[in-house]
Amino acid sequence: MRSFLNTLQNEDWKNGGFGIYIHWPFCAAKCPYCDFNSHVSRHVDEKLWLDAYRKEISRIYRLTENRRVKSIFFGGGTPSLMSPDLVSGILSHIRSVWLLNNDCEITLEANPTSVEAQKFISFRDAGVNRVSMGIQSLNDQDLKRLGRQHSAKEALNAFTIARTIFDRVSFDLIYARQNQSISEWRSELQQALNSDIDHLSLYQLTIEDGTAFGDRYAIGRLKGLPDQDLAADLFEITQDLCEQNRMPAYEVSNHARSGSECQHNIVYWKYGDYAGIGPGAHGRLTLKNNRYSTEGYLQPDKWLSMVSKGCGDRLMEKMSLYNQGQEFVLMGMRLSEGICTDRYKSFFGHSPKPKVIQKLTCEGLVKLTSSRITTTLRGRMLLNYVIKELLMR
Ligand SMILES: C[S@@+](CC[C@H](N)C(=O)[O-])C[C@H]1O[C@@H](n2cnc3c(N)ncnc32)[C@H](O)[C@@H]1O
Ligand code: SF4
Repeated sequence: MRSFLNTLQNEDWKNGGFGIYIHWPFCAAKCPYCDFNSHVSRHVDEKLWLDAYRKEISRIYRLTENRRVKSIFFGGGTPSLMSPDLVSGILSHIRSVWLLNNDCEITLEANPTSVEAQKFISFRDAGVNRVSMGIQSLNDQDLKRLGRQHSAKEALNAFTIARTIFDRVSFDLIYARQNQSISEWRSELQQALNSDIDHLSLYQLTIEDGTAFGDRYAIGRLKGLPDQDLAADLFEITQDLCEQNRMPAYEVSNHARSGSECQHNIVYWKYGDYAGIGPGAHGRLTLKNNRYSTEGYLQPDKWLSMVSKGCGDRLMEKMSLYNQGQEFVLMGMRLSEGICTDRYKSFFGHSPKPKVIQKLTCEGLVKLTSSRITTTLRGRMLLNYVIKELLMR
């Protein structure tokens, strides 16, 4: 029995596959809403960074060895500020150690300015096959409020350029913004859907502590944010309009044409394994029957200096099976396809409690089939509650 459980544990990550996340921690300016690990720095020595990324790739390869890489994701920060040579150097090193799937998805997050658009061909030549652009809004006044460095026109131009160079292009919009009415959002979203897009990430504006917006909000100077009812209406309209345009949600905030779902994010949501490389990057690695959570040093200089001493991770912690189960539910219930009940059982040692499922079903929040639990639209709107109930001991 013990060895059967070990095999299950050892192989569980294969349900999601293996991805590599590379974090580039620099931006041209700090947006007032953003709490990602991003820094504005005048001078970045790319040689030092390439050397450090190579060292970390080799170190993590030695731990994981014979795996096939399903996806690589350059996130940030603003990875489109990297030189194509740096991106190419990192990808060559990854290829020199791991085997990549033939259809390995290689995404780079890009800010949609004209300067970055000029680099798209070189990024493609370096091996990138998908870009994800932070357009955020198609309204110039709101782009200013969001502290963005580009206009809507510049962003759409960058998108058009990307479209001619990459087969796969996604963009992000932030909605539920200050003073945004339902009809304004509807027409902005329709404009986005009318573009030649196959993947959209649509995030509701979140006010994060420690950001400029967070500070303004705390002293009552961030006005016009939607109340809960308006935010729920905006979410519902988003789902309706995207479905009508054949871009259904495959995850709470992510929409795609069938077959264009982001493979990298699916590694996270299906609870696969991923190497997190770079300042503050998180990883999950299954090594000899145990899953470990890893986290890089947050500050870029500190990360560089720790890598030069042998390891850029400030944490590598063995996870209990229960913790893994919690994460599996937390991530998996975000997906429209929900979670597999057998996997739930392998983490918790029992099936989801019939009483809880019955209650959530009666409330119209989840559906149970012979092998999966999925959320309804209402369930996705009340996801935190659904997850709390499913994890109740
Ligand atoms: C790491 S950032 C994007 C990369 C790139 N630097 C950019 O800004 O275009 C990933 C995405 O998270 C979203 N995001 C960041 N902070 C957010 C917040 N507070 N509320 C909602 N969405 C947010 C934005 O849509 C952003 O494009
Ligand atoms: S939203 Fe993007 S560009 Fe703005 S600070 Fe965050 S990571 Fe940098």
